[in-house]
Amino acid sequence: AYRNIFVFDQLDSTNLEVRRQLKTGINDVLVIAEEQTEGRGRRGRQWESPYATNIYLSVSWPVTQGMAQLEGLSLSVGLAVYRTLQPYLQTNLGLKWPNDVLIGHKKVAGILIELLGDPADSFYAVIGIGININLKANQLKVDSPWTSLALETGKCTDRNELIVSLVRHLQEILKQQSAEGFASMRKEWEQVHLWQNKMVSLSFTEHEIVGKVLGVSPKGELELLVGDEQKNFAGGELTLRLQ
Ligand code: BTN
Repeated sequence: AYRNIFVFDQLDSTNLEVRRQLKTGINDVLVIAEEQTEGRGRRGRQWESPYATNIYLSVSWPVTQGMAQLEGLSLSVGLAVYRTLQPYLQTNLGLKWPNDVLIGHKKVAGILIELLGDPADSFYAVIGIGININLKANQLKVDSPWTSLALETGKCTDRNELIVSLVRHLQEILKQQSAEGFASMRKEWEQVHLWQNKMVSLSFTEHEIVGKVLGVSPKGELELLVGDEQKNFAGGELTLRLQ
């Protein structure tokens, strides 16, 4: 269990709040907000965070075994979100490398992991999770396809119930991540990867690479078959290639 749990009506961002707590020496923190005014997404994007409809949650995680402890972390956190949502959805729920949670081709949850402190000394990962729960179709103006649990199931879900389950799954996954690493979850992850064996393009700032998804490595890298060669990638933005 977390020693310090904070629930806010409104915050700039739960990730920022965990950082502030850590800076004042408070660790073992879990922060939840009803609304975020500066919800942050990956790659400097914004995360739409309207009031009392979704889950915005961040936790601190001490990194005590060096950078190796972080290998595949964003994938394993995705698995925790997957396990949380799975009982509510019969079909189409899956993950997209590295850490999007999708229903069909629409995003239902996102994960943002940031590091705080000195990697040579003691440092923390701040793990932020946003899940669209009771959002309605016309509530967001986001250019990429998104959905919510309510839109997919036709029902409202109690967010408290979901948070309890999410925290339980997250703690379980983080324990496994530090004890055995992502390698021990790799097969389960590949089973829920929506784009396993699919042709994809992986884009970087200046170029893109087309290949077939073979799976993920023990470190959480994407394994692509490019031509007749296997290549592993730690970064890049994945899109499905229509064929
Ligand atoms: C993404 O771009 O997919 C990541 C989105 C992460 C959103 C969550 S909501 C809780 C936490 N606080 C933030 O400001 N961002 C993360």
